[in-house]
Amino acid sequence: MVASDIVRLIGKPVPRYTSYPTAPHFHAGIREADYGAWLESLPRSADLSLYMHIPFCDSLCWFCGCHTRITRRYEPVGLYLGGLIREIRMAAEKVPDRAAVSHIHWGGGSPTMLSPDDIRRLGTATREVFALKPGCEFAVEIDPRGLDQARIDALAGIGLTRVSLGVQDFDPEVQWAINREQSFEETQRVAEAFRAHGVSSLNIDAIYGLPHQNEARLLATLDKVVSLDPDRIALFGYAHVPWMKKHQEMIPPESLPGIEERFVQAESAARFLIAAGYVRVGIDHFAKPADALAVAARRGALRRNFQGYTVDPADALIGFGASAISSLPNGYTQNEPTTGRYLALISEGKLPIARGVALNEEDRLRRAVIESLMCRMEMDERILAQSTAPEAVKGEIRAEMDQFRDEARRGWVIRTRDGLIVTEAGRPFLRLIAARFDAYLAQAAGRHSVAV
Ligand SMILES: C[S@@+](CC[C@H](N)C(=O)[O-])C[C@H]1O[C@@H](n2cnc3c(N)ncnc32)[C@H](O)[C@@H]1O
Ligand code: SF4
Repeated sequence: MVASDIVRLIGKPVPRYTSYPTAPHFHAGIREADYGAWLESLPRSADLSLYMHIPFCDSLCWFCGCHTRITRRYEPVGLYLGGLIREIRMAAEKVPDRAAVSHIHWGGGSPTMLSPDDIRRLGTATREVFALKPGCEFAVEIDPRGLDQARIDALAGIGLTRVSLGVQDFDPEVQWAINREQSFEETQRVAEAFRAHGVSSLNIDAIYGLPHQNEARLLATLDKVVSLDPDRIALFGYAHVPWMKKHQEMIPPESLPGIEERFVQAESAARFLIAAGYVRVGIDHFAKPADALAVAARRGALRRNFQGYTVDPADALIGFGASAISSLPNGYTQNEPTTGRYLALISEGKLPIARGVALNEEDRLRRAVIESLMCRMEMDERILAQSTAPEAVKGEIRAEMDQFRDEARRGWVIRTRDGLIVTEAGRPFLRLIAARFDAYLAQAAGRHSVAV
Protein backbone atom coordinates (compact mmCIF):
# COMPACT_ATOMS: atom_id res chain seq x y z
CA MET A 1 0.00 0.00 0.00
CA VAL A 2 1.16 3.49 -0.78
CA ALA A 3 0.86 6.11 1.99
CA SER A 4 -1.89 8.64 1.30
CA ASP A 5 0.40 11.70 1.31
CA ILE A 6 2.53 10.01 -1.36
CA VAL A 7 -0.59 9.28 -3.40
CA ARG A 8 -1.49 12.97 -3.16
CA LEU A 9 1.99 13.91 -4.37
CA ILE A 10 2.12 11.57 -7.35
CA GLY A 11 -1.37 12.62 -8.34
CA LYS A 12 -0.06 16.14 -8.86
CA PRO A 13 0.05 17.18 -12.51
CA VAL A 14 3.58 18.05 -13.67
CA PRO A 15 5.32 18.24 -17.06
CA ARG A 16 7.36 15.36 -18.52
CA TYR A 17 10.22 17.80 -19.21
CA THR A 18 11.00 16.84 -22.77
CA SER A 19 11.90 20.52 -23.05
CA TYR A 20 12.41 23.49 -20.74
CA PRO A 21 10.56 25.82 -20.88
CA THR A 22 7.79 23.33 -21.68
CA ALA A 23 5.50 23.66 -24.72
CA PRO A 24 2.62 25.50 -22.94
CA HIS A 25 5.04 28.41 -22.51
CA PHE A 26 5.78 28.78 -26.21
CA HIS A 27 4.22 31.97 -27.61
CA ALA A 28 3.32 33.52 -30.94
CA GLY A 29 5.99 36.22 -30.56
CA ILE A 30 8.54 33.84 -32.10
CA ARG A 31 8.15 33.98 -35.87
CA GLU A 32 9.52 32.52 -39.07
CA ALA A 33 12.29 35.16 -39.20
CA ASP A 34 13.55 34.13 -35.75
CA TYR A 35 13.64 30.47 -36.74
CA GLY A 36 15.45 31.28 -40.01
CA ALA A 37 18.04 33.37 -38.17
CA TRP A 38 18.49 30.66 -35.52
CA LEU A 39 19.13 28.04 -38.22
CA GLU A 40 21.62 30.34 -39.97
CA SER A 41 23.50 30.94 -36.72
CA LEU A 42 24.06 27.24 -35.95
CA PRO A 43 27.74 26.32 -35.42
CA ARG A 44 29.45 25.85 -38.83
CA SER A 45 29.93 22.14 -38.43
CA ALA A 46 26.88 21.51 -36.25
CA ASP A 47 25.79 18.01 -35.41
CA LEU A 48 22.11 17.73 -36.37
CA SER A 49 19.21 15.55 -35.40
CA LEU A 50 16.17 15.53 -37.70
CA TYR A 51 12.58 14.74 -36.70
CA MET A 52 9.89 14.20 -39.33
CA HIS A 53 6.25 14.13 -38.25
CA ILE A 54 3.60 12.18 -40.20
CA PRO A 55 0.26 13.18 -38.63
CA PHE A 56 -2.00 10.50 -40.13
CA CYS A 57 -3.44 7.15 -38.99
CA ASP A 58 -6.09 4.91 -40.53
CA SER A 59 -7.95 4.34 -37.28
CA LEU A 60 -8.10 6.15 -33.96
CA CYS A 61 -6.83 4.60 -30.73
CA TRP A 62 -8.87 6.22 -27.98
CA PHE A 63 -5.93 6.59 -25.60
CA CYS A 64 -3.85 8.45 -28.19
CA GLY A 65 -2.19 11.67 -27.07
CA CYS A 66 -0.21 12.17 -30.28
CA HIS A 67 -0.82 14.82 -32.91
CA THR A 68 -2.59 12.89 -35.66
CA ARG A 69 -5.75 12.73 -37.74
CA ILE A 70 -7.60 9.83 -39.23
CA THR A 71 -7.85 9.33 -42.96
CA ARG A 72 -8.81 6.39 -45.10
CA ARG A 73 -7.80 8.14 -48.33
CA TYR A 74 -4.22 8.48 -49.49
CA GLU A 75 -4.67 11.86 -51.18
CA PRO A 76 -4.12 14.04 -48.07
CA VAL A 77 -1.09 11.95 -47.08
CA GLY A 78 0.50 12.35 -50.53
CA LEU A 79 -0.22 16.11 -50.53
CA TYR A 80 1.27 16.46 -47.08
CA LEU A 81 4.42 14.63 -48.09
CA GLY A 82 4.96 17.15 -50.91
CA GLY A 83 4.77 19.99 -48.33
CA LEU A 84 7.06 18.16 -45.91
CA ILE A 85 9.74 17.69 -48.57
CA ARG A 86 9.47 21.36 -49.51
CA GLU A 87 9.92 22.34 -45.85
CA ILE A 88 13.00 20.11 -45.57
CA ARG A 89 14.54 21.83 -48.62
CA MET A 90 13.73 25.33 -47.32
CA ALA A 91 15.22 24.68 -43.89
CA ALA A 92 18.31 22.94 -45.31
CA GLU A 93 19.16 26.09 -47.27
CA LYS A 94 19.54 28.00 -43.99
CA VAL A 95 21.71 25.41 -42.25
CA PRO A 96 25.52 25.88 -42.49
CA ASP A 97 27.11 23.76 -45.23
CA ARG A 98 29.28 21.59 -43.02
CA ALA A 99 26.51 20.61 -40.62
CA ALA A 100 25.85 16.86 -40.71
CA VAL A 101 23.13 14.60 -39.41
CA SER A 102 23.72 11.99 -36.70
CA HIS A 103 20.09 11.01 -35.96
CA ILE A 104 16.85 10.83 -37.92
CA HIS A 105 13.52 9.99 -36.33
CA TRP A 106 10.17 9.59 -38.11
CA GLY A 107 7.24 9.84 -35.76
CA GLY A 108 3.55 10.44 -35.78
CA GLY A 109 0.84 9.53 -36.12
CA SER A 110 1.99 6.62 -38.19
CA PRO A 111 4.88 7.06 -40.62
CA THR A 112 3.81 3.72 -42.12
CA MET A 113 0.78 5.53 -43.61
CA LEU A 114 3.23 6.58 -46.35
CA SER A 115 3.20 4.40 -49.47
CA PRO A 116 6.41 2.46 -50.21
CA ASP A 117 7.23 4.94 -53.01
CA ASP A 118 6.70 7.91 -50.70
CA ILE A 119 8.84 6.31 -47.98
CA ARG A 120 11.66 6.17 -50.54
CA ARG A 121 10.89 9.72 -51.74
CA LEU A 122 11.21 11.13 -48.22
CA GLY A 123 14.40 9.15 -47.59
CA THR A 124 15.96 10.35 -50.85
CA ALA A 125 14.84 13.98 -50.40
CA THR A 126 16.51 14.08 -46.97
CA ARG A 127 19.81 12.72 -48.29
CA GLU A 128 19.75 15.16 -51.22
CA VAL A 129 19.93 18.21 -48.95
CA PHE A 130 21.53 16.96 -45.74
CA ALA A 131 24.88 15.20 -45.29
CA LEU A 132 24.48 12.10 -43.14
CA LYS A 133 27.32 11.17 -40.80
CA PRO A 134 28.70 7.64 -41.04
CA GLY A 135 26.70 5.45 -38.67
CA CYS A 136 23.76 7.90 -38.66
CA GLU A 137 20.92 6.41 -36.61
CA PHE A 138 17.53 6.26 -38.28
CA ALA A 139 14.54 5.27 -36.15
CA VAL A 140 10.90 5.00 -37.19
CA GLU A 141 7.76 4.66 -35.03
CA ILE A 142 5.81 1.74 -36.35
CA ASP A 143 2.25 0.59 -35.78
CA PRO A 144 2.56 -3.13 -36.63
CA ARG A 145 -1.14 -3.59 -37.40
CA GLY A 146 -1.56 -4.53 -41.05
CA LEU A 147 1.96 -3.46 -41.99
CA ASP A 148 2.81 -4.98 -45.37
CA GLN A 149 6.09 -6.39 -46.65
CA ALA A 150 6.45 -3.64 -49.30
CA ARG A 151 6.64 -0.91 -46.62
CA ILE A 152 9.01 -2.99 -44.49
CA ASP A 153 11.26 -3.44 -47.57
CA ALA A 154 11.09 0.28 -48.40
CA LEU A 155 12.06 1.34 -44.86
CA ALA A 156 14.92 -1.16 -44.70
CA GLY A 157 16.01 -0.01 -48.18
CA ILE A 158 16.48 3.61 -47.08
CA GLY A 159 18.74 2.70 -44.17
CA LEU A 160 16.46 2.22 -41.15
CA THR A 161 18.57 1.28 -38.11
CA ARG A 162 15.98 1.10 -35.30
CA VAL A 163 12.36 0.03 -35.28
CA SER A 164 10.11 1.41 -32.56
CA LEU A 165 7.03 -0.82 -32.38
CA GLY A 166 3.87 0.38 -30.65
CA VAL A 167 2.37 -2.40 -28.52
CA GLN A 168 0.64 -0.63 -25.56
CA ASP A 169 -1.06 -3.77 -24.13
CA PHE A 170 -1.83 -7.26 -25.44
CA ASP A 171 -4.84 -7.92 -23.21
CA PRO A 172 -8.06 -8.21 -25.32
CA GLU A 173 -10.26 -6.31 -22.85
CA VAL A 174 -7.75 -3.46 -22.58
CA GLN A 175 -7.36 -3.40 -26.37
CA TRP A 176 -11.13 -3.25 -26.78
CA ALA A 177 -11.35 -0.34 -24.32
CA ILE A 178 -8.72 1.66 -26.23
CA ASN A 179 -9.98 0.69 -29.71
CA ARG A 180 -6.75 -1.00 -30.70
CA GLU A 181 -6.86 -4.65 -31.64
CA GLN A 182 -3.36 -5.99 -32.11
CA SER A 183 -2.28 -9.61 -31.85
CA PHE A 184 1.02 -10.81 -30.47
CA GLU A 185 1.55 -12.88 -33.63
CA GLU A 186 1.24 -9.86 -35.90
CA THR A 187 3.63 -7.84 -33.73
CA GLN A 188 6.10 -10.74 -33.79
CA ARG A 189 5.79 -11.07 -37.58
CA VAL A 190 6.71 -7.39 -38.04
CA ALA A 191 9.64 -7.55 -35.59
CA GLU A 192 11.01 -10.63 -37.35
CA ALA A 193 10.55 -9.14 -40.82
CA PHE A 194 12.70 -6.14 -39.88
CA ARG A 195 15.29 -8.40 -38.26
CA ALA A 196 15.44 -10.48 -41.43
CA HIS A 197 16.46 -7.24 -43.18
CA GLY A 198 19.29 -6.76 -40.69
CA VAL A 199 17.57 -3.98 -38.71
CA SER A 200 18.92 -5.20 -35.41
CA SER A 201 17.81 -2.53 -32.94
CA LEU A 202 14.27 -2.94 -31.64
CA ASN A 203 12.34 -0.68 -29.26
CA ILE A 204 8.87 -1.50 -27.97
CA ASP A 205 6.40 1.01 -26.51
CA ALA A 206 4.03 -0.21 -23.80
CA ILE A 207 1.71 1.72 -21.48
CA TYR A 208 0.52 1.26 -17.90
CA GLY A 209 -2.52 2.95 -16.38
CA LEU A 210 -4.80 2.06 -19.33
CA PRO A 211 -8.51 1.26 -18.85
CA HIS A 212 -9.17 -2.15 -17.30
CA GLN A 213 -5.46 -2.74 -16.85
CA ASN A 214 -4.27 -4.32 -13.64
CA GLU A 215 -0.94 -5.54 -12.40
CA ALA A 216 -1.44 -9.12 -13.64
CA ARG A 217 -2.53 -8.04 -17.13
CA LEU A 218 0.35 -5.59 -17.41
CA LEU A 219 2.90 -8.23 -16.40
CA ALA A 220 1.38 -10.71 -18.87
CA THR A 221 1.83 -8.08 -21.62
CA LEU A 222 5.41 -7.39 -20.55
CA ASP A 223 6.15 -11.11 -20.54
CA LYS A 224 5.15 -11.21 -24.22
CA VAL A 225 7.07 -8.00 -24.92
CA VAL A 226 10.24 -9.50 -23.38
CA SER A 227 9.79 -12.68 -25.47
CA LEU A 228 10.30 -10.48 -28.57
CA ASP A 229 13.76 -9.68 -27.17
CA PRO A 230 13.69 -5.87 -27.64
CA ASP A 231 16.84 -3.87 -26.90
CA ARG A 232 14.77 -1.08 -25.37
CA ILE A 233 11.33 -0.85 -23.82
CA ALA A 234 9.53 2.43 -23.22
CA LEU A 235 6.88 2.00 -20.54
CA PHE A 236 4.80 5.18 -20.50
CA GLY A 237 2.18 6.07 -17.92
CA TYR A 238 -1.12 6.64 -19.72
CA ALA A 239 -1.66 10.41 -19.94
CA HIS A 240 -5.42 10.98 -19.69
CA VAL A 241 -5.94 14.55 -20.85
CA PRO A 242 -9.48 14.65 -22.34
CA TRP A 243 -9.52 18.45 -22.10
CA MET A 244 -6.79 18.40 -24.79
CA LYS A 245 -7.66 15.16 -26.60
CA LYS A 246 -11.45 15.03 -26.92
CA HIS A 247 -11.51 11.40 -28.15
CA GLN A 248 -10.12 10.24 -24.78
CA GLU A 249 -13.68 10.85 -23.51
CA MET A 250 -14.40 7.45 -25.11
CA ILE A 251 -12.51 6.04 -22.12
CA PRO A 252 -14.82 6.21 -19.07
CA PRO A 253 -12.90 7.54 -16.05
CA GLU A 254 -14.24 4.67 -13.90
CA SER A 255 -12.43 2.14 -16.13
CA LEU A 256 -9.07 3.74 -15.31
CA PRO A 257 -6.83 2.52 -12.50
CA GLY A 258 -6.51 5.07 -9.69
CA ILE A 259 -3.30 6.87 -8.76
CA GLU A 260 -2.34 4.25 -6.21
CA GLU A 261 -2.90 1.39 -8.66
CA ARG A 262 -0.89 3.26 -11.32
CA PHE A 263 2.00 3.54 -8.89
CA VAL A 264 1.80 -0.17 -8.07
CA GLN A 265 1.68 -1.06 -11.81
CA ALA A 266 4.70 1.12 -12.63
CA GLU A 267 6.85 -0.26 -9.83
CA SER A 268 5.80 -3.87 -10.35
CA ALA A 269 6.54 -3.53 -14.10
CA ALA A 270 9.97 -2.09 -13.29
CA ARG A 271 10.79 -5.02 -10.99
CA PHE A 272 9.64 -7.45 -13.68
CA LEU A 273 11.77 -5.86 -16.41
CA ILE A 274 14.83 -5.61 -14.16
CA ALA A 275 14.46 -9.31 -13.31
CA ALA A 276 14.24 -9.98 -17.07
CA GLY A 277 17.69 -8.41 -17.49
CA TYR A 278 16.84 -4.79 -18.35
CA VAL A 279 18.36 -1.68 -16.79
CA ARG A 280 16.05 1.13 -15.71
CA VAL A 281 16.78 4.36 -17.60
CA GLY A 282 15.25 7.65 -16.49
CA ILE A 283 11.55 7.76 -15.65
CA ASP A 284 10.09 5.42 -18.25
CA HIS A 285 12.72 3.55 -20.28
CA PHE A 286 14.38 0.16 -19.89
CA ALA A 287 17.33 -1.10 -21.93
CA LYS A 288 19.56 -4.14 -22.18
CA PRO A 289 22.80 -3.41 -20.29
CA ALA A 290 24.84 -3.36 -23.52
CA ASP A 291 22.39 -1.11 -25.39
CA ALA A 292 23.66 2.42 -26.12
CA LEU A 293 20.90 3.93 -23.95
CA ALA A 294 21.95 1.94 -20.87
CA VAL A 295 25.63 2.64 -21.58
CA ALA A 296 24.91 6.38 -21.88
CA ALA A 297 22.94 6.29 -18.61
CA ARG A 298 25.90 4.62 -16.85
CA ARG A 299 28.34 7.18 -18.25
CA GLY A 300 26.14 10.16 -17.40
CA ALA A 301 25.74 10.92 -21.13
CA LEU A 302 21.99 10.38 -21.42
CA ARG A 303 20.00 13.25 -22.98
CA ARG A 304 16.31 14.12 -23.09
CA ASN A 305 14.42 15.52 -26.07
CA PHE A 306 10.93 15.42 -27.55
CA GLN A 307 11.24 11.72 -28.35
CA GLY A 308 12.05 10.98 -24.70
CA TYR A 309 15.47 9.65 -23.65
CA THR A 310 18.22 9.56 -26.25
CA VAL A 311 21.96 9.16 -26.65
CA ASP A 312 21.84 11.91 -29.26
CA PRO A 313 24.27 14.72 -28.36
CA ALA A 314 23.30 16.88 -31.40
CA ASP A 315 23.65 20.68 -31.20
CA ALA A 316 20.25 21.09 -32.83
CA LEU A 317 17.10 19.07 -33.30
CA ILE A 318 15.23 20.26 -36.39
CA GLY A 319 11.57 19.23 -36.50
CA PHE A 320 9.70 19.00 -39.81
CA GLY A 321 5.98 18.64 -40.41
CA ALA A 322 2.78 19.88 -38.80
CA SER A 323 3.16 20.47 -35.02
CA ALA A 324 6.86 19.45 -35.05
CA ILE A 325 9.10 21.15 -32.50
CA SER A 326 12.70 22.24 -33.11
CA SER A 327 15.24 22.66 -30.34
CA LEU A 328 18.04 25.04 -31.34
CA PRO A 329 20.78 26.71 -29.28
CA ASN A 330 18.77 29.98 -29.31
CA GLY A 331 15.41 28.48 -28.35
CA TYR A 332 12.48 26.29 -29.35
CA THR A 333 10.05 26.69 -32.24
CA GLN A 334 6.89 24.78 -33.08
CA ASN A 335 5.37 24.39 -36.52
CA GLU A 336 1.76 25.15 -37.34
CA PRO A 337 -0.21 22.19 -35.94
CA THR A 338 -3.10 21.97 -38.42
CA THR A 339 -2.09 20.34 -41.70
CA GLY A 340 -4.17 22.81 -43.77
CA ARG A 341 -2.46 25.92 -42.34
CA TYR A 342 0.90 24.15 -42.42
CA LEU A 343 0.57 23.36 -46.14
CA ALA A 344 -0.74 26.85 -46.93
CA LEU A 345 2.33 28.48 -45.34
CA ILE A 346 4.69 26.10 -47.15
CA SER A 347 3.01 26.85 -50.49
CA GLU A 348 3.69 30.56 -49.84
CA GLY A 349 7.37 29.65 -49.45
CA LYS A 350 7.33 30.28 -45.69
CA LEU A 351 8.84 28.22 -42.89
CA PRO A 352 5.63 27.26 -41.04
CA ILE A 353 6.40 28.50 -37.52
CA ALA A 354 3.41 29.05 -35.21
CA ARG A 355 5.13 29.73 -31.88
CA GLY A 356 8.26 29.27 -29.85
CA VAL A 357 10.38 30.63 -27.07
CA ALA A 358 13.83 32.25 -27.00
CA LEU A 359 16.08 31.05 -24.20
CA ASN A 360 17.64 33.47 -21.74
CA GLU A 361 20.52 32.56 -19.42
CA GLU A 362 18.18 31.64 -16.57
CA ASP A 363 16.24 29.28 -18.88
CA ARG A 364 19.47 27.63 -20.02
CA LEU A 365 20.64 27.09 -16.47
CA ARG A 366 17.29 25.73 -15.26
CA ARG A 367 17.10 23.55 -18.37
CA ALA A 368 20.53 22.10 -17.55
CA VAL A 369 19.49 21.45 -13.93
CA ILE A 370 16.21 19.78 -14.96
CA GLU A 371 17.85 17.68 -17.71
CA SER A 372 20.56 16.59 -15.28
CA LEU A 373 17.92 15.43 -12.77
CA MET A 374 15.75 13.69 -15.39
CA CYS A 375 18.76 11.94 -17.03
CA ARG A 376 21.45 11.56 -14.35
CA MET A 377 19.28 11.76 -11.23
CA GLU A 378 21.59 14.37 -9.78
CA MET A 379 22.62 18.00 -10.06
CA ASP A 380 25.48 19.90 -8.52
CA GLU A 381 27.42 23.16 -8.30
CA ARG A 382 29.35 22.38 -11.50
CA ILE A 383 26.20 23.12 -13.53
CA LEU A 384 25.90 26.48 -11.78
CA ALA A 385 29.62 27.21 -12.18
CA GLN A 386 29.44 26.64 -15.98
CA SER A 387 26.48 28.98 -16.36
CA THR A 388 26.60 32.67 -17.20
CA ALA A 389 23.20 33.25 -15.57
CA PRO A 390 22.96 36.13 -13.06
CA GLU A 391 24.25 35.35 -9.56
CA ALA A 392 20.78 36.09 -8.18
CA VAL A 393 19.35 33.16 -10.22
CA LYS A 394 22.12 30.86 -9.00
CA GLY A 395 21.26 31.96 -5.46
CA GLU A 396 17.59 31.07 -6.05
CA ILE A 397 18.56 27.62 -7.32
CA ARG A 398 20.80 27.02 -4.30
CA ALA A 399 17.90 27.99 -2.05
CA GLU A 400 15.63 25.60 -4.00
CA MET A 401 18.15 22.80 -3.39
CA ASP A 402 17.74 23.39 0.33
CA GLN A 403 13.99 22.82 0.19
CA PHE A 404 14.01 19.04 -0.08
CA ARG A 405 13.89 18.24 3.64
CA ASP A 406 10.72 16.12 3.40
CA GLU A 407 12.09 14.25 0.41
CA ALA A 408 15.43 13.69 2.18
CA ARG A 409 13.58 12.36 5.24
CA ARG A 410 11.70 9.91 3.01
CA GLY A 411 15.00 8.78 1.49
CA TRP A 412 14.19 10.07 -2.02
CA VAL A 413 17.01 12.62 -2.23
CA ILE A 414 20.37 13.18 -0.59
CA ARG A 415 21.51 16.77 -0.17
CA THR A 416 25.27 16.61 -0.66
CA ARG A 417 27.72 19.42 0.10
CA ASP A 418 27.28 20.90 -3.37
CA GLY A 419 24.25 19.29 -4.93
CA LEU A 420 21.36 16.86 -4.88
CA ILE A 421 21.29 13.15 -5.61
CA VAL A 422 17.99 11.39 -6.30
CA THR A 423 18.05 7.85 -4.88
CA GLU A 424 16.52 4.75 -6.48
CA ALA A 425 13.59 5.17 -4.04
CA GLY A 426 13.15 8.70 -5.36
CA ARG A 427 13.11 7.72 -9.05
CA PRO A 428 9.29 7.58 -9.34
CA PHE A 429 9.22 11.18 -8.12
CA LEU A 430 11.80 12.57 -10.57
CA ARG A 431 9.25 14.70 -12.45
CA LEU A 432 8.10 16.21 -9.16
CA ILE A 433 11.66 16.86 -8.00
CA ALA A 434 12.59 18.45 -11.35
CA ALA A 435 9.43 20.58 -11.24
CA ARG A 436 10.75 22.37 -8.15
CA PHE A 437 13.36 24.04 -10.39
CA ASP A 438 10.77 25.09 -13.01
CA ALA A 439 10.37 28.86 -12.78
CA TYR A 440 7.37 28.83 -15.16
CA LEU A 441 5.25 26.22 -13.39
CA ALA A 442 3.83 28.72 -10.92
CA GLN A 443 2.46 30.73 -13.87
CA ALA A 444 0.21 27.69 -14.60
CA ALA A 445 -0.11 28.17 -18.35
CA GLY A 446 -0.71 24.50 -18.96
CA ARG A 447 -2.48 21.50 -17.50
CA HIS A 448 -0.37 18.38 -17.35
CA SER A 449 -0.86 14.68 -16.76
CA VAL A 450 -0.33 13.20 -13.29
CA ALA A 451 3.26 12.66 -12.11
CA VAL A 452 3.06 8.85 -12.19
C1 LIG B 1 3.51 8.98 -31.37
S1 LIG B 1 2.93 7.39 -30.91
C2 LIG B 1 3.11 6.63 -32.49
C3 LIG B 1 3.13 5.15 -32.49
C4 LIG B 1 2.38 4.39 -33.57
N1 LIG B 1 1.43 5.21 -34.27
C5 LIG B 1 1.67 3.26 -32.89
O1 LIG B 1 0.54 3.47 -32.47
O2 LIG B 1 2.22 2.19 -32.79
C6 LIG B 1 4.27 6.82 -29.93
C7 LIG B 1 3.90 6.23 -28.60
O3 LIG B 1 3.33 7.18 -27.75
C8 LIG B 1 2.66 6.51 -26.72
N2 LIG B 1 1.42 7.23 -26.38
C9 LIG B 1 0.48 7.71 -27.22
N3 LIG B 1 -0.52 8.28 -26.54
C10 LIG B 1 -0.22 8.19 -25.22
C11 LIG B 1 -0.86 8.61 -24.01
N4 LIG B 1 -2.03 9.25 -24.01
N5 LIG B 1 -0.23 8.35 -22.85
C12 LIG B 1 0.95 7.70 -22.81
N6 LIG B 1 1.59 7.28 -23.93
C13 LIG B 1 1.02 7.52 -25.11
C14 LIG B 1 2.36 5.12 -27.22
O4 LIG B 1 3.08 4.18 -26.45
C15 LIG B 1 2.86 5.15 -28.65
O5 LIG B 1 3.41 3.93 -29.06
S1 SF4 C 1 -1.47 5.38 -30.98
FE1 SF4 C 1 -0.45 5.41 -32.96
S2 SF4 C 1 -1.89 4.39 -34.37
FE2 SF4 C 1 -3.06 4.88 -32.56
S3 SF4 C 1 -4.02 6.84 -33.07
FE3 SF4 C 1 -2.11 7.29 -31.93
S4 SF4 C 1 -0.58 7.60 -33.46
FE4 SF4 C 1 -2.32 6.59 -34.47
